Amino acid sequence: MCLPGVIVFPENDLSVAWNRPRLPLAGQILSTVTCYAWSVWRIAVTDWIERRVKGMSPEALSDAIFAGRILYFEGLQPMQDLIACARRCIDATFPGHDPVSAHTQLDQKSYEERCAAMRKAFITDRKALRALEASLTAAGVDGHATYRDRLVLRVSPPGALGYRRGFGTVPPHRDSWGSGLMNQINWWLPVYPITKERTLAIFPAHWKDPVKNDSRGWNWREAGKNPGVALLPTAQSDLDRSGEIRVVVEPGTLVAFSAAHLHASVKNTTNAARFSCESRTVNIDELRSGNGAPDIDGGGVQPALEWFVRLGDGEALTPRADLPDTLSRP
Ligand SMILES: [Fe+2]
Repeated sequence: MCLPGVIVFPENDLSVAWNRPRLPLAGQILSTVTCYAWSVWRIAVTDWIERRVKGMSPEALSDAIFAGRILYFEGLQPMQDLIACARRCIDATFPGHDPVSAHTQLDQKSYEERCAAMRKAFITDRKALRALEASLTAAGVDGHATYRDRLVLRVSPPGALGYRRGFGTVPPHRDSWGSGLMNQINWWLPVYPITKERTLAIFPAHWKDPVKNDSRGWNWREAGKNPGVALLPTAQSDLDRSGEIRVVVEPGTLVAFSAAHLHASVKNTTNAARFSCESRTVNIDELRSGNGAPDIDGGGVQPALEWFVRLGDGEALTPRADLPDTLSRP
């Protein structure tokens, strides 16, 4: 509720009492409408985002994520190790450079080649993978039933137009369009400080509102190999950007959201490159039970079970007989 004389600042959530002078009628109406709009916007944003200082139970985590909540886990101890691993890998990629401004000192070809090599090296960084798995478990995933995707170290330099694997500005998409898995959880973290001009955007207005997209007929096995197949399915119509959330968190915060949330890279309009890490998880019990987010506009792609390996022992997730029909066929 918007109280007279109180402004609610949406970004820092501060309320400031204010002895408002008497305004002419038009001014009073404008003031009231503005105040109301800010309040509605703030309430909408805070409804989607939940800040957590501790982990959750696997059940509470799934309930929140599959209801569309966006979770910010702050202060999870293993995250410090993950950030340290990412920074070590980045430093080794750009020796003698400040990583966030290295794009200004290297030619584009060399910069992109280094980023590609960095991404490859990080995927197999055992310390980083251990820290990732410890962070996921600390947040609340079931360590015995959870499978994870690769750990990607992504670079989004200023002004990047297109995108490639782990590089550039990714257009609006739902990960579930590509994986076909509605119980998938996305995990994301910045490696260095970010701003709302250099981050990830989520569009909660489309949680229940379908978007035209090109996922029908998309085949993840062909993506990146066959030049005719896009790297990932993306939105093909204008978006409702009302309530857009630009994720601005400190390095060390782990962000979790459903693979069914529409999201994209914010086009980086700052002078610094964005470095972020991401991975995805699924829980085998939820694959069996079908517990997950609603599928409102997916194209029915072949589920990408093969992207995932089990936490701890790295056992591959493959189509198997004890899963529902749609997941049991290769
Ligand atoms: Fe994504």
